[in-house]
Amino acid sequence: MKKIVFLTGAGISVESGFSTFRGANGLWEEYKVEDVASIEGYWRNPSLVINFYNKLRKQLVESSPNEGHRLVASLEEHFDTTVVTQNVDDLHERAGSSNVIHLHGELMKVTSSSNPNDPRCIQTLTPERLDIHIGDKAKDGSQLRPFIVWFGEAVPMMEEAAKAAMQADIFVVIGTSLNVYPAAGLISYVPQGTKIYLIDPNPVRVPYGIDVHTIQKGASEGMKELKEILLAQK
Ligand code: APR
Repeated sequence: MKKIVFLTGAGISVESGFSTFRGANGLWEEYKVEDVASIEGYWRNPSLVINFYNKLRKQLVESSPNEGHRLVASLEEHFDTTVVTQNVDDLHERAGSSNVIHLHGELMKVTSSSNPNDPRCIQTLTPERLDIHIGDKAKDGSQLRPFIVWFGEAVPMMEEAAKAAMQADIFVVIGTSLNVYPAAGLISYVPQGTKIYLIDPNPVRVPYGIDVHTIQKGASEGMKELKEILLAQK
């Protein structure tokens, strides 16, 4: 089976009711990145950050995957599929994708604030227990924090994502402005000659010298068009 690798961003979850970060009325127009999405912001005001993600988690359990997520998952019947996502939502998984790499963490998980990547301290929250509070402790006795990769922190899954990109026969970028590194750099790991598709309703600047086939549509419409192209080529 040919290997297809997706790199997705906030745009694929727009049709599920989530705003993007940098688009019109994006999340970063409402909140300052350094307050709610940086390690310094967390240590400056942990309860503000904990409550910010409690709110997002509530929105997540009330939302559902859209046609774009479902079409990505449907390609698993035809391709060895890896989804690398910058999104912290679990909408790819809930749409049926079985191989998802989260570069920026997972909203439904919480962890140790002294050793966030210690697997013994990572816990998955449930709709019955969605919130964490100051005073809730991880297994190592430290304050529980969101299992999110904040600006200023390492991106532990980048190596695994790069390995997948290096083996891709087809690479598909959906719903990301390619502004944030190292995630955006993934496109540079794709071998010469691998076909790259980019689905986005707006123009996206790609690194110099990288040739992409652009489908200037939203995620669902774009994935419908891409699926037809890919299945016609099989
Ligand atoms: N379908 C597909 N793409 C869309 C749609 C849609 N319906 N609506 C908007 N988009 C596109 C926008 O045109 C933009 O190119 O989604 C992209 C969203 O870009 P950003 O808001 O920058 O989000 P993203 O690239 O995922 O941000 C990367 O930045 O703040 C950090 O950690 C955060 O993971 C995030 C990272």
